[in-house]
Amino acid sequence: MLHIQFLTAAGISYDVEVAAGETVMDAALDHGVPGITAQCGGGCTCCTCHCYLPTDQAQWFPPPVQDELDLLEYAWQRRSTSRLSCQLRLTEAMDGLRVEVPERQA
Ligand code: FES
Repeated sequence: MLHIQFLTAAGISYDVEVAAGETVMDAALDHGVPGITAQCGGGCTCCTCHCYLPTDQAQWFPPPVQDELDLLEYAWQRRSTSRLSCQLRLTEAMDGLRVEVPERQA
C-alpha cells in the first residue's frame, strides 16, 4: 500500500491509501475525491480525470502516449504537468505522491 494526497481547487486535502497497481483515477474515485469524474471509466476517451502532478514528481510516471496527449488538448487550464489520472498507474515507489485536482474538468 502507498499513500497519496489529493488537493482540490477549494484547498481541501484528501490523504488516501491505495494499493500498488491501481491508478490515480481509481484512488480518487474509491475515496470520493471531488473533481475527478472519470466519465469513461479509465478508457482514455473523455478527459474528465484530468489532474496536475508536481514538477518534482511528474517524472515518476512514463510520459503520456499520443492518445493521452490528444485528449489533454481539451483539458481545463492545461499545464506542463497535466495528466489523465486514469493513465497513471501506481507503484510502491510512488508513496507520497501529491496530485492537484483542477477547478473543473473540460
Ligand atoms: S477516465 Fe476518461 S480519460 Fe481518464
